[in-house]
Amino acid sequence: MSPIKLSLAARVAGVALAVLAPALAARADTVAVSADRMLDVIGGVEVDKPLVLIVDGRIARVGKQGDLAIPAGARTVVLPPGMTLLPGLIDMHVHLTSDPRISGYRHLEYTDSFWQVVGVANARRTVEAGFTTVRNVGSGNFDDVGLKQGIEAGYIPGPRIVPATYALGATGGHCDGGGLPPSMDRDAPNVSDTPDGYRHLVRKMRKYGAEVIKICATGGVLSKTDSVGAQQMTFAEMQAVADEAHMLGLRVAAHAHGTEGINTALRAGIDTIEHASLADEESFRLAKARGAWFSMDIYDDDYILAEGAKNGVYPESLEKERMVGLKQRQTFRAAVKAGVKMIFGTDGGVYPNGDNAKQFAKMVEWGMTPLQAIRAATSEAAEALGRPKDVGAIEAGRYGDLIAVAGDPLGDVSRLEHVAFVMKGGQVVKAAP
Ligand code: ARG
Repeated sequence: MSPIKLSLAARVAGVALAVLAPALAARADTVAVSADRMLDVIGGVEVDKPLVLIVDGRIARVGKQGDLAIPAGARTVVLPPGMTLLPGLIDMHVHLTSDPRISGYRHLEYTDSFWQVVGVANARRTVEAGFTTVRNVGSGNFDDVGLKQGIEAGYIPGPRIVPATYALGATGGHCDGGGLPPSMDRDAPNVSDTPDGYRHLVRKMRKYGAEVIKICATGGVLSKTDSVGAQQMTFAEMQAVADEAHMLGLRVAAHAHGTEGINTALRAGIDTIEHASLADEESFRLAKARGAWFSMDIYDDDYILAEGAKNGVYPESLEKERMVGLKQRQTFRAAVKAGVKMIFGTDGGVYPNGDNAKQFAKMVEWGMTPLQAIRAATSEAAEALGRPKDVGAIEAGRYGDLIAVAGDPLGDVSRLEHVAFVMKGGQVVKAAP
């Protein structure tokens, strides 16, 4: 049996590679990573003197230095003293092909393919910041699929991407551009106003690479022509999206700020609620009953209010941000308290991609423990992706996606803003100093 088949078989069977590792050493690419400390996000404990063995990109064994033998021929990575090893981080809401410094009408100055170049730069910044997996919930021209292919083929560095392709929504809604005169109207590839139309769009986006479906259930802040709280898709439309996507094995993320839109989305079977700004007690109850997650971008308010005017954000958007920003943080605190499942989503692109980790400190300031915030960006995110055996923890079978920070992130979660070491699939992306 070839080493690749052998490691695959071991993975499928969930067999620890202890016995297989020496046999594989000659041919398989084995790397042994050691550090002073490791955060076990699933157990919620820190482990001293960990050793992680990665074979052909997947974690084969996790143990203690001294207990676990390093197979002959393995590459070794010994992290500097004082460092804590964590699983690669996951951001569940980014737009890699966006740049907040180019907001509002400034988009019109650039050609369509410009955004792919922005995506290339942001992919590197994102993975070097320790985010080894991202869910890209909306981009034009299938840019996220191309970006993913370029990264997987080794042309450029970047995170694992779960692409949504286009975000789907209603005519005149948050995901329908807006701000142009009727003479410049065009048939948008992502807009529908009927349940059947949405079924078609789900099938089409999947056909061209979507691995998650994104809808715009309510108005938004940064769109020009809508009210942030207003529902923009009917129950029947959202249900058509959820049914179709689930039938195809895809999950659905709904942009939703307003209460009615959030609750309708939850009743329609949507899996993750993005923003969730005006969620109420009924929303919490529905989310818990249905096992849905909230992905709340609570850092953005600071950035938009400080930089938005300079960046070209529409004045009416700044007005909307003043209406929902603080309310969203208060909702976040209440939702955490109510026990709603939470995932880490920044809306990267609304603030600079690569600065994603700045949101951790906000999440702790507004009611989470550091461990909860880190789980939202690791094990919980993996669950919400439907990939609990792939990413999100340092555990045998999952990808060898590891990061390290100086000191203890449970003591000060803002340490995650300075990720010193990044490994993706057993390959070093950023070497420790
Ligand atoms: N993309 C979102 C929107 O336009 C950004 C919201 C940012 N504001 C916030 N308080 N989270 O609606």
